Amino acid sequence: GWTTSSIIDDTVAAVRAQVGDGRAICGLSGGVDSAVAAALVQRAIGDQLTCVFVDHGLLRSGEREQVERDFVAATGAKLHTVDVADRFLAALAGVTDPETKRKVIGREFIRVFEAATTEVAAEEHVGFLVQGTLYPDVVESGGGSGTAVIKSHHNVGGLPDDIEFALVEPLRALFKDEVRRVGRELGLPEGIVGRQPFPGPGLGIRIIGEVTFDRLETLRAADAIAREELTAAGLDDTIWQCPVVLLADVRSVGVQGDGRTYGHPIVLRPVSSEDAMTADWTRLPYEVLERISTRITNEVAEVNRVVLDVTSKPPGTIEWE
Ligand code: XMP
Repeated sequence: GWTTSSIIDDTVAAVRAQVGDGRAICGLSGGVDSAVAAALVQRAIGDQLTCVFVDHGLLRSGEREQVERDFVAATGAKLHTVDVADRFLAALAGVTDPETKRKVIGREFIRVFEAATTEVAAEEHVGFLVQGTLYPDVVESGGGSGTAVIKSHHNVGGLPDDIEFALVEPLRALFKDEVRRVGRELGLPEGIVGRQPFPGPGLGIRIIGEVTFDRLETLRAADAIAREELTAAGLDDTIWQCPVVLLADVRSVGVQGDGRTYGHPIVLRPVSSEDAMTADWTRLPYEVLERISTRITNEVAEVNRVVLDVTSKPPGTIEWE
């Protein structure tokens, strides 16, 4: 509609006016906000923008390809990927406490992003940092809602401390649904534009226990199956999100083929929500649960049991860590 196109036109004009012939950098997370922000700035200033994507190894199946291949194909943006999965695994070795995990991931992320940004900035004299701040974030951070911080949130685009940039925030006046409409109008891949919320610390906080490469592979496989079946059943708009959690420190006895197994449980956490502040567990159709369970236990070697989380928020949070 004209509303979405006029949002795009106005924003593109404003970004052009702000950045002029300067250079900008934008961190991509694989999520909708940073992708739409980058796409708008790309449309405004083209090659004067460099996007940075940190692959910390905690992403879900297909997410890196979605950024490197589909986002780049849709926008023509210049992309610099930083491969740091090993570094994150090393930093997370032995870490099991949820808050410590979040702190380690957040700290490493900022260091890596800062280093990448400094490198690009030095080469290209970058003066602007693009951030996907939405209108509700602006209100929340300025408004002092008084809500206690229950978990430390670390998100892509955290501002490096000692680099001086002017901020470009093309989504500052928009709500999430408008961001999605703008993204679709700009031709971004549906996998990015329609993506359900996914936490900055990624799969790192969906492995209960230490994060290792093998455990990440197990969780990625189970998560991909759950997402595939939920999408095939047409449930993407019914559920707010469905974390898939690996109980890496728990084992239970099973029987598969003619052998006894001693494997790990996978938890499905489908929730319905308006804003993630409160949530209810989604009553998924039994047939869908059955398909997900059968496929995960057949296709993912380390998993011999699938369980369903039927806790609302409160008292449970949406994520397990
Ligand atoms: P909880 O688990 O607190 O989650 O009920 C509420 C919503 O926030 C998401 N979440 C995060 N998002 N960085 C994020 O960007 C984070 O560190 C983080 N932790 C939780 C969670 O997926 C849910 O949508």
